[in-house]
Amino acid sequence: MIKKAIILSGGKGTRMSPLTKAINKQLLPIYDKPLIFYPLSILMLAKIKDILIIVNKGEVKQYKKILPDGKNLGIKISYKEQSYPKGLPDAFLIGEKFIDNKEVALILGDNFFYGQNLTSMLLRSTKLKKGAKVILHKVVKPELFGVAKTNNNGKINQIKEKPKKFFSDLAITGLYFFDKNVVGYAKKLKPSRRKELEITDLLKIYLKKKQLSSELLGRGGAWLDTGSIDHFYKTSAFVSAIENRQGFKIACLEEIALKNRWITSKNIKNAMKFYGKCEYSDYLKKLI
Ligand code: G1P
Repeated sequence: MIKKAIILSGGKGTRMSPLTKAINKQLLPIYDKPLIFYPLSILMLAKIKDILIIVNKGEVKQYKKILPDGKNLGIKISYKEQSYPKGLPDAFLIGEKFIDNKEVALILGDNFFYGQNLTSMLLRSTKLKKGAKVILHKVVKPELFGVAKTNNNGKINQIKEKPKKFFSDLAITGLYFFDKNVVGYAKKLKPSRRKELEITDLLKIYLKKKQLSSELLGRGGAWLDTGSIDHFYKTSAFVSAIENRQGFKIACLEEIALKNRWITSKNIKNAMKFYGKCEYSDYLKKLI
């Protein structure tokens, strides 16, 4: 059972400069809330309450302004700094003490997931005891991602990081579930040609042991990009379209916490005070 998770929220956001010169990308808005709310909401939907956020050196203070310690959400948030981006598996080296020899999930701070069956898929995934699990989603440009090839039964038989030649259009999304061995395996990895530890190399260790499983986020679900300014706005437009049509917010952390019975109406009132007079607070008011 996975009860801990890491959000890797560092990076320079170079492709979005100058926006990212003074503010970390994950604190910039996707429509009406900071990008980091979206991956955090995914972990909360997965009923994970113990969360480590890894941020760039010197940025903890800024993050704590919006996500201090998780108490008002009924969860526990802690922080660690990364001196420079060394690849995704570095999260397990930085987080070794936090992981404490337990199973752990990893989500990238800039990944956006949405879909009707998402929560049940998440709850299935946190049941993992042995091996690793990835979430796959069909994309038009697989060459931009880690890619998995599956057999007729949906079992992964090959994975590659950003393949130049096409072999599958199933991208490995930035949400991963690992057993206790992950830290030990991460320690064995060597930097790739781009001088980073690669998550696909870590997954290959599990694949070799026949311990890599997957879930498919199908066409009724969305995994959207927030890598470039254009994609940032497109994802914002997606959130705006849905929220303004239905009147429900995507990734309202307090709403999820309340539904999970982790907090009470008192916490919602505190949150309204914290955010001040704004549309988000108006939405919170309607919850109680
Ligand atoms: C990373 C991983 C890749 C994965 C992607 C998901 O890519 O290396 O396997 O598909 O995240 O967002 P990067 O952001 O390093 O280009």
